[in-house]
Amino acid sequence: MRYGIIGCGRISANHFAAAKENHLEIVAICDVLPERMEEAKAQFDLPTVACYTDYQAMLEQEDLDLVAICTESGKHAAIALNALDSGVHLIIEKPIALSLSDADQIVKKSKEQGLVVCACHQNRFNKSIQKIREAVEEGRFGRMMHGAAHIRWNRGESYYTQAPWRGTWEQDGGALMNQCIHNIDLLRWMMGGEIEEVVSYTDNMRHPFIEAEDLGLALVRFRSGAYGLIEGTTNIFPKNLEETLYLFGTEGTVKAGGKSVNLIEEWMFADGLDDSEEIKKTFHENPPNVYGYGHNPLYADVIEAIEEGRAPYVTAQDGRDALELVLAIYQSAAQGACVKLPLKDVASTDFTGRFNDRIDVAHVESVKERLHEEDAAHAPRA
Ligand SMILES: NC(=O)c1ccc[n+]([C@@H]2O[C@H](COP(=O)([O-])OP(=O)(O)OC[C@H]3O[C@@H](n4cnc5c(N)ncnc54)[C@H](O)[C@@H]3O)[C@@H](O)[C@H]2O)c1
Repeated sequence: MRYGIIGCGRISANHFAAAKENHLEIVAICDVLPERMEEAKAQFDLPTVACYTDYQAMLEQEDLDLVAICTESGKHAAIALNALDSGVHLIIEKPIALSLSDADQIVKKSKEQGLVVCACHQNRFNKSIQKIREAVEEGRFGRMMHGAAHIRWNRGESYYTQAPWRGTWEQDGGALMNQCIHNIDLLRWMMGGEIEEVVSYTDNMRHPFIEAEDLGLALVRFRSGAYGLIEGTTNIFPKNLEETLYLFGTEGTVKAGGKSVNLIEEWMFADGLDDSEEIKKTFHENPPNVYGYGHNPLYADVIEAIEEGRAPYVTAQDGRDALELVLAIYQSAAQGACVKLPLKDVASTDFTGRFNDRIDVAHVESVKERLHEEDAAHAPRA
């Protein structure tokens, strides 16, 4: 299968590794910064790979089957819609888009074109999460009463200064949209998906050099009558503490923990079907970073989905639904009111200026100016 990648920054290493592991033929790569492609060529031993600084040229000139989109989040949708027009299957890094209308267009176009589009929520493939999902699908929890997702991480100034897009409403969003969306996706997925309403607070407590939030606290009421609690932050002193997912059913209690929901820490079911201690020992991973090991199985699934003409395990609709929940939290916090789902069109940029009374506006504006200058210098062809 002929594969290409758009955006050769930090997360692209996981995509290159997964593509190689799954025996994809890496024929073309693209980044607006040629040095990023040189680094990738050296790191992944790709001396003859075709390099493009213009993704549209790559899509036109290469006969690709599958493309991964790993650019900053605010560019995912435009690139994805162009790529779908050129007939390629896609893996889109999370969040799939930053506006609901863009995400809806991606879902619609992928269906019209009969193309596989996978939202890169790779934590769904964690061993711990797969085991929990199996228990959900087998009905072992009884009636699900409530679930809780906690993301207690740390991101300091040096993380945000790596690239001017980080923490901007246009290209990223804040802690919930970037760091916490994986666990928000997991909570929604495990609790049955359908949401009635959301009420929340968001704030910027200690990152005056970014525009968006570094703390989000939300309550979700699912259509099933169950509740969800979300606590997501990048404020934890002095480093990442934990990412946990709790599920409480009438017949079962589970906690996934570790730095990124990669361990099962509690496993209790009324049916007594398995040995909790054995489960905790077996469904346990210790990845080198919070990205985990999920890209590999996600790629394996996408390849199989393309070959079998079926939907991928994580669909574009799943990516859209995770985005919808983050945007609902943003909207509820901004309005100081409960928000009903489904949401009408909402975008991260609707919240521009939201924390201007507590951030360093001059600094943030200068970062955005740099972002716009860099984007203009690397603008794709009209
Ligand atoms: N799944 C995960 O766990 C995970 C982890 C980290 C980041 N991400 C997501 O991956 C995306 C990228 O994050 P990152 O940390 O790798 O960012 P990054 O800034 O390190 O990399 C982005 C790259 O895209 C390139 N780029 C920008 N515009 C381009 C264009 N038009 N054509 C080609 N290349 C272009 C940039 O030059 C840069 O090299 C974000 O959406 C982020 O949310 C996902």
